[in-house]
Amino acid sequence: MKRGLFITFEGPEGSGKSTHSKLLCDFLKARGLKVLHTREPGGTTVSEKIRKILLDSRNKDMDTVCEMLLYMAARVQVVKEKIRPALRKGHIVICDRFLDASVVYQGYAGGISPDIIKDIGLFITKGVSPDVTFLLDIDVKKGLARLGKTKDRMERKSLFFHNRVREGYLAIARKEAKRVRVISAVEDIAETQEGIRKVVLRILNSRHQITNKPQ
Ligand code: TMP
Repeated sequence: MKRGLFITFEGPEGSGKSTHSKLLCDFLKARGLKVLHTREPGGTTVSEKIRKILLDSRNKDMDTVCEMLLYMAARVQVVKEKIRPALRKGHIVICDRFLDASVVYQGYAGGISPDIIKDIGLFITKGVSPDVTFLLDIDVKKGLARLGKTKDRMERKSLFFHNRVREGYLAIARKEAKRVRVISAVEDIAETQEGIRKVVLRILNSRHQITNKPQ
């Protein structure tokens, strides 16, 4: 099977991962590379509908297991419809959040066993897993302060919860240092983006998959 490159962006709330994933996508496209930029939960009609349910602040009583299964359900669909086909074609896939987010939000912070979440995740993603993950790390209070006034259901969770999210991400980064690159999200955007691009270009060069000049 022809194999593309699967890049994910993770981080606590307000870490700027969407900004950086978009900048990286534009940079790679300008070099003539085929890139799919998507997000989780979301990226397909069904997954975007599930996203609405998950983030709706009126759904206050949602059980964490229900929440976890809905994130997984959204994931099944985007992997099937978008991510796997793009990787099969040898394209680059950039996804804002993936299975690590379930492991930290519903696991480390939400109280479900991270191992159970990983097992369900492996079952539903069937071998699709990120080659490299950029963890944009930020002090939780600073990140939350960057958000707009209307907070969604997840953003409204306690400071304790969000601190557990950050700790969970950092724990994954320690365990999987080769895959997960921790990047400080409080540096200048251009500098942070430069660091991200260097890592990606290195991987692409090692796979002889890069055109160096913008087209
Ligand atoms: P966003 O911040 O990328 O828009 O993601 C939406 C929210 O969903 C964010 O608070 C993180 C949360 N989330 C989970 O709790 N579990 C997951 O598996 C994913 C993908 C996201």
